[in-house]
Amino acid sequence: MALVLSGRKYARVVRASLRDRVSELQGSAPGLAVIMVGDDPASRVYVGAKEKACKKVGFNSRVIGLPAETSEADILGLVGELNCDDTVHGILVQLPLPDHISVDRVASAVLPEKDVDGFHPVNVGRLWRGEEGLFPCTPSGIVGLLHHHDISMRGKNALVVGRSNIVGKPMAALLLRENCTVTVAHSRTVDLMGQCRKADILIVAVGKPEMIQRDWVKPGAVVVDVGMNRNSNGKLVGDVAYNDVFDVCSAITPVPGGVGPLTIAFLLENTFKARAKSSAE
Ligand code: GUN
Repeated sequence: MALVLSGRKYARVVRASLRDRVSELQGSAPGLAVIMVGDDPASRVYVGAKEKACKKVGFNSRVIGLPAETSEADILGLVGELNCDDTVHGILVQLPLPDHISVDRVASAVLPEKDVDGFHPVNVGRLWRGEEGLFPCTPSGIVGLLHHHDISMRGKNALVVGRSNIVGKPMAALLLRENCTVTVAHSRTVDLMGQCRKADILIVAVGKPEMIQRDWVKPGAVVVDVGMNRNSNGKLVGDVAYNDVFDVCSAITPVPGGVGPLTIAFLLENTFKARAKSSAE
């Protein structure tokens, strides 16, 4: 019988703690600005959820929607204005951006101290160097979830499957900071199944429905599924075959209700942290 690691429940705990901390603040509430360029339907849903989450914990939020044809220069100009706005503690530029806009240039334009996505190269450097900074929300949420359940990471073999800049790479860095022995696997990895079978902590972020099957998992492993896919029946499934893997692992995140809710909860945490840092200066 595996322990179900509910991100939904843990996100509630994080939000309740944030509400308490906001109520004790002197001065202005934490403020988050979200820039959305174009009309991607999934982005609209995510941005709406971020706005709602801000309200729930007493943050100010501002959503700036821009047409898909907006120039990169205009977006950089807007980011520059928000960088100088003292009521804005966190700036998030919703991805994907239209093809004519460089994600790297936009991410690098956000002040590192307001970079609540943790995408700025300065924050990436701080993350790998073991320094204080703002780090990507989904991997931060996963580490928080494991701590919340008293799952020890120290010295464990952790395998991260997937090497994206948003999840895989920062996940590896955070697990290293938790003293795991970390391996990063990806689409070119030879014997991926063999690698998975060695992992005490298996984190999967590949976007392939139910790729990880029962015989890929080491008995007693902790399994974290970052995937959100529709299978051939239109059902929402993760990258892990949940029912198959359930009684071979010691703990597992469900889909939905596992990793998904953590991203926004830790976006709020990062915004709070950015506000605390700005008022300490
Ligand atoms: N689009 C999908 N996930 C994310 C995220 O974590 N941050 C941003 N900025 N855009 C996204």
